[in-house]
Amino acid sequence: MANQGGLEGIVVADIGTSYIDGGIGVLTYGGYAIEDVAEHATFEEVTFLLLNGRVPNQSEHEQIRAAIAMNAAIPDELVDMMRSMPRQTPAMSVLRTAVSMLAAFDKDAENLTDKDMAADKALRLTGQITTICAAWMRIAGGLPPVAPRPDLNLAQNFIYMMTDAEPDDTASAAVNVYLVLLAEHGMNASTFATRVITATGADMHSAVVGGIAALKGPAHGGANAEAMKMFLDIGEVDNVVPWFEKHIKTGERRIMGIGHRVYKANDPRAGILKRHAEALANSSGQRKWFDIAVKLEETARADDYFIQRNLYPNVDYYSAIVLYTLDLDIDMFTPLFAMSRISGWSAHIIGQMGGRLIRPKANYVGPHDLTWIPLAER
Ligand code: ACO
Repeated sequence: MANQGGLEGIVVADIGTSYIDGGIGVLTYGGYAIEDVAEHATFEEVTFLLLNGRVPNQSEHEQIRAAIAMNAAIPDELVDMMRSMPRQTPAMSVLRTAVSMLAAFDKDAENLTDKDMAADKALRLTGQITTICAAWMRIAGGLPPVAPRPDLNLAQNFIYMMTDAEPDDTASAAVNVYLVLLAEHGMNASTFATRVITATGADMHSAVVGGIAALKGPAHGGANAEAMKMFLDIGEVDNVVPWFEKHIKTGERRIMGIGHRVYKANDPRAGILKRHAEALANSSGQRKWFDIAVKLEETARADDYFIQRNLYPNVDYYSAIVLYTLDLDIDMFTPLFAMSRISGWSAHIIGQMGGRLIRPKANYVGPHDLTWIPLAER
């Protein structure tokens, strides 16, 4: 039988970071239900949990918050490099290039074996990626970047660096929930990429660059931006059904933010984000995009094609509405995903360090026994 590709169902590691039961829509981080984590945790608590396998006490929480915030500054040379990039460069390409450059300025970049050092490096990268995202938003908008503040948590710092104003509590809380929900998700494509790179013995920055590259694709992290473009293309709630008939029923395109390799039931993160999207839509007075998303979900879920294939909204579907309502450029949606997923990547990278080379095999389907004809005779 032809190989379907995709390594579906193949187990490549034992992990303690997250557990998914896609058949019934369950996700836990280190044993804690995602619903509970999303309601109570800061992103820093989640990062600690993923890196240490247990939740922090109050002093450990303050230590990790401070370690991230105090190491979040980026070198001036990196800011200059970002300023030199064409403004229309996709933000994910800027982030990929910037993280690669950060390695040149990290004193421990080439240490490939010390796991404590790697954990410190991971916290530096966590803060720096946030600073890069906020800095690029401002540079692309013709504004000077703002340096991170040591007294804020990551969600607050992001809002502060983006707006150059005291971070608003509602916006910071929404960013925090988003960061918490996207932090870790088993052996997803970008995490697998970071593990493959780490297993060759390469450094953490290289692995994270690989993770960012894998996350960029619309089948993975790029779907949040594509989902928002789709909602904008639909434009009005009344257009949902005709749009669905024209583009989806004909098989011309997929609904971005729907479907998942693992979830064949509700993605629990999507339900949580849907509630936040609705609350933000109501408080901002911009309900239209949320209403379009709901109507499209209902239209799809009432359709046999989506019912038979168990296709439900995934995390990217309602996160698009949350991020849009927070006034983020669509181009920044996927970098925000990276800002969160760096914590999961870091835990996987450290877990993979010193592990066995990941080297699957391919099924050869080409010809055999051909005779090489010298170039001059062809
Ligand atoms: N819209 C319409 N049909 C779909 C969709 C969709 N969004 N997703 C899957 N299908 C259909 C496929 O056409 C296929 O139909 P078939 O059996 O008749 O050929 C069937 O459902 C299975 O789809 P596959 O692509 O084989 O499933 P796979 O597990 O490989 O892909 C994926 C999962 C890539 C997420 C897919 O559902 C998709 O493209 N979704 C849209 C992009 C997206 O939202 N990506 C984000 C994923 S979550 C994340 O990475 C954070």
